Amino acid sequence: MAVDQRPDCPVQEDFDPLSEEFLADPYAVMAALPLDEAPVFYAPAIDYYVVTRYDDIESVFLDPDRYSAAAAQLPLVALEPEATEILLAGGHKPQPSMVSLDPPAHTRLRRPTSRAFTPRRVDDMKPRVRETLAALLDAVDPRAPFDLVQTLTFPLPATVIFSFMGVPEEDYAQLKEWCGHRATLAFGRPPAAEQVEHATSMAAYRAYLRELVARKADDRADDFASAMLAIHDEDPDALSQEEIASILFSLSFAGHETTNYLIGNVVRRLLEEPARWDEVVADPSLIPGAVEETLRFDTSVPAWRRVTKRAVTLGGVDIPEGSKLFLWLAASGRDASVFPEPDVFDPRRPNAKRNLAFGKGIHFCIGSALGRLEAQLGLEELTRRFPRLRLVEDQELTFHPNISFRGPQALWVQAER
Ligand code: HEM
Repeated sequence: MAVDQRPDCPVQEDFDPLSEEFLADPYAVMAALPLDEAPVFYAPAIDYYVVTRYDDIESVFLDPDRYSAAAAQLPLVALEPEATEILLAGGHKPQPSMVSLDPPAHTRLRRPTSRAFTPRRVDDMKPRVRETLAALLDAVDPRAPFDLVQTLTFPLPATVIFSFMGVPEEDYAQLKEWCGHRATLAFGRPPAAEQVEHATSMAAYRAYLRELVARKADDRADDFASAMLAIHDEDPDALSQEEIASILFSLSFAGHETTNYLIGNVVRRLLEEPARWDEVVADPSLIPGAVEETLRFDTSVPAWRRVTKRAVTLGGVDIPEGSKLFLWLAASGRDASVFPEPDVFDPRRPNAKRNLAFGKGIHFCIGSALGRLEAQLGLEELTRRFPRLRLVEDQELTFHPNISFRGPQALWVQAER
């Protein structure tokens, strides 16, 4: 690909993370880019500066004074006025939740969330994760090929996070559907004709969570929503019920597709070289390393966003105030200055855990322990039950058209040969 040099700023006219070519294989696109010479470049197709080096991305995450989180969930296309009105009337603002807010608004939501999202609560999820895994895999007929996404990777994290939050089971399917609309609206390129439908779903999603909090207020249980309400009771001015609903809006989405795709990516990367799978079967102590290596090598959240609060220089490029940054986390995982031989998948890589897959700094992923736990327990159970698992041959993997959540939409496997 040619680099069109504008003053102080390389431009990649062809870089479009929503193109078919990119969705099918972003790592092939990455390999063809001159990232050594131009580690920061402007991509007119999305109107973002793309940041690819590990150190540059880390420095952005660690500097909330220079870089605002406001772009984190910003639609990539201008929305139709009708869709915008529906969103605003439904309480869905341009900075719709914690991950898009800067201090002090961010701190107001983050602090109580961290208080209620304790390591104990995550640890307590272990039996629930194991039970859910067993129930989902008991339903598999091992004699026939099955789609691991439908069977396991999609339902597991949804069930885990929704039950953690305190959502009644009969509402899981509806919430999952709303999450799909959210992914397209904030991270895809929805055509004008679809935007009203997405916006209407978003308003319904938010209204549902507000009602859930109101209902929980009169009917507490041992769940996250009730733990947040207990914090509200201590000091209603410090955390309103509306803010609790907003936090649930964060968790219901963040705890779901991220982990679905992580598990899909781990299993895919192990099975595409069957010797890798066999090695993990023979030595399950490799499982945490395999999960970590996948977060580096083929993360489920390949890009995150920021916007400059003032003019900055990043990777040698002068970037004006108010510019949007596409932090290409997937590229940070392939940065050879941090991860030697970055294109080799190695579950024993000593520093795989340095990956930036969960961000860093004040927005560092609250659910990292839960995401890792689900992926590790999932892999434990799969390798134990299906030691001879293989990919069904000649399947073409497809990926949801969005910039930030990536994993196979279906992964056909067979347990017996
Ligand atoms: C397993 C895969 C997961 C990945 C790769 C992932 C990745 C990320 C990333 C990149 C961020 C933004 C960090 C930043 O801006 O610095 C983030 C934030 C967040 N994640 Fe995760 N996440 C995962 C799982 C989860 C789970 C299971 C939860 C659930 C509870 C969760 C909840 C959150 C929340 C609430 C935030 C916003 C934190 C803030 O703004 O302060 N994530 N995550």
